[in-house]
Amino acid sequence: MSVPGCTMVIFGGTGDLAHRKLAPAIYNLHLEGRLPSDFSLVGIGRKQKSDSQYRQELAASISKYSSSTWDEKQWQTLALKIHYHAGDMRYAENYLPFKNAVEACNIESGGNGNYLYYMALAPHLFTPIAENLKLHNMTAGESGWRRIMIEKPFGYDLSSARKLNNTLSAVFDEENIYRIDHYLGKEMLQNILVIRFANTIFEPLWNKRFIDHVQISARESDGIGDRGRYYDRVGAMRDMFQSHLLQMLALMAMEPPLKADPDTIRTEKLKLLNAVHLWPEEESKSNLIFGQYYGYMQEKDVAAYSQTETYIALKLAVNNSRWQGVPFYLQTGKKLEDKLVKIVIQFKSPPSFYFGDPLEGVYKERSDLINLLTLKVQPREGVVFQFNIKKPAAIEEVVPAEMDFCQPCAFMINTPEAYELLLLDVMNGDQTRFSSWNEIESSWILTDSIYSQHRKSLGNFDIYEAGSMGPESAADMLIRDGRHWW
Ligand SMILES: NC(=O)c1ccc[n+]([C@@H]2O[C@H](COP(=O)([O-])OP(=O)(O)OC[C@H]3O[C@@H](n4cnc5c(N)ncnc54)[C@H](OP(=O)(O)O)[C@@H]3O)[C@@H](O)[C@H]2O)c1
Repeated sequence: MSVPGCTMVIFGGTGDLAHRKLAPAIYNLHLEGRLPSDFSLVGIGRKQKSDSQYRQELAASISKYSSSTWDEKQWQTLALKIHYHAGDMRYAENYLPFKNAVEACNIESGGNGNYLYYMALAPHLFTPIAENLKLHNMTAGESGWRRIMIEKPFGYDLSSARKLNNTLSAVFDEENIYRIDHYLGKEMLQNILVIRFANTIFEPLWNKRFIDHVQISARESDGIGDRGRYYDRVGAMRDMFQSHLLQMLALMAMEPPLKADPDTIRTEKLKLLNAVHLWPEEESKSNLIFGQYYGYMQEKDVAAYSQTETYIALKLAVNNSRWQGVPFYLQTGKKLEDKLVKIVIQFKSPPSFYFGDPLEGVYKERSDLINLLTLKVQPREGVVFQFNIKKPAAIEEVVPAEMDFCQPCAFMINTPEAYELLLLDVMNGDQTRFSSWNEIESSWILTDSIYSQHRKSLGNFDIYEAGSMGPESAADMLIRDGRHWW
C-alpha cells in the first residue's frame, strides 16, 4: 500500500531539531524512495529568508547529519518540494498569508489536501499556534486530513500537560494528535515486544519467579551543549525519565497484548504505568538519587545556583502479580563516562552449587552464577545473553560466556532513524509508535510524585565528576541490595 503524501509544515523549521533530525530523515526517505511523490515541505520561522536560502541551509545540515551519503542529483529533486515562509506564528494576523502559502504548496505538489503540522518549537508556542490554526479553518477541510505532531516534553508537569491536552483536544480529534516519544521509533524498542512474545523461551521466565531485577540505563557522555536554556528548565527527570525511560519500562514489563494493534498495546502499557511507584524507602536510605555534574552551573544559559538535576537514579516497584518484589533500577544522566542505552534483565541465581575437582576432593560453593539478558538500544543495537560454562581444560572453573547478537552486523543495513519511521507512521495514520494521552498523564502523575518525594528530602543533590559513572550514592543504592550496575 502506498503512503499518502501531504504538505508537512514545520513550525520551527529553522531550529536545531529541524536541521539535525527532521531534514535528514526526510532526505533519507527520499533517497530510499519511501517519500510519497506528492509530498511537500514548508519550514516556518520568524527570520526572513528565501526558499533558495532555506534549501541551502538544510542541504548543509543534511550533508552533516544524515546517515546517508550526499547525492546532489537526488537533493535537487527534493529541494524543489521545499519552501520557506516567515512569520511570527503567535499572532492571528500572520495566518492568512501563511494559509495561502501552504495551500499553494499543497496544490503545486498534487493537491492531496493532507496537512501535517509539526511543532518543532518551544512548548509555550504550541497552544497559540493550535488555536490560530483552528481560528483560520486549517484543522479540518472538505478533503484530506489534518494531523499534528507534538514534540516531547508534553507539558512541564501534570497540570500543564492537562492544559495543553485540553487545548489540542478542542482543536484536533485524538486520532489526529501524534505525541512524539522518538525512542518508540528506535529499532530495539520495537524489537522488545517481538523478543518477548515471538520467542516461547523468554515469556515463561519473564516474571518474579525467575527475574531478580531489571536495570534500564540511558547514559550520555555529552553535556548540555548549547541547550542550557531548554535543559535548565527541564532536567533529567522531565527530559528523559517521564518519556523515554518510562516507555522502555512499559514495553519491557507490560502484559502480552491480545493483538498487535495500537490501542491494545497502548492499553497494556497504560496498565503497567499505572502500577509503577517509587520503591518504599527502608531505614531512611534513599531509593531516589538526584545528581548534578561539577561545572554544570557554569554552562552557557544555566542559572548560577541551578537546582536542575543532570542525573537521576531510582528504584521502582511494579505493583502487580507478575512483578511483585522485583526492583526496577533506572538511571540516566549527562557527562558520564560512557554513552549507551540498554535494558539488562538479571535472572535469579541457581541454588548454591558445589563445583570442584572430584579427584582432589576440593569443592567450592558458587552462589554468584547469574544469567543476564541485555537488550542494547544504542549505540550498537543487539541482544546479548550471558550464561555460565565450564572453562575448557579447567575442571573446577565456571566462567560466564556470551551469545552476542549484533543487529547491524547481521542485517548489514542502515537502521532507519527513528524520525524516518515516525514521519511515515503519521502519513499512514498509524499511532502505534506514539504515546496516548492516558500514558502521558500516568507518566506525569508518577513524575510529579517523585519530584515531591525529592522535595521532602530537602531537594539534595549529589555532585559527580564529569566523565565518571555518576554519583557514588547511585552505586551505593545497588550495593545495599547486594547488586551493582551492569
Ligand atoms: N533539538 C532537539 O534535539 C530536540 C529533541 C527533542 C525534542 N525537542 C523539542 O523540539 C522543540 C524545538 O527544539 P529546538 O531545539 O529545535 O529549538 P530551537 O533550535 O530553539 O528552534 C526554535 C525554532 O522555532 C522558531 N520560532 C521561535 N519562535 C517563533 C515564533 N513565535 N513564530 C514562528 N517561529 C518561531 C525559530 O525560528 P526563528 O528564530 O527564525 O523565529 C526556530 O526555527 C522544543 O519543544 C524541544 O523541546 C528538541
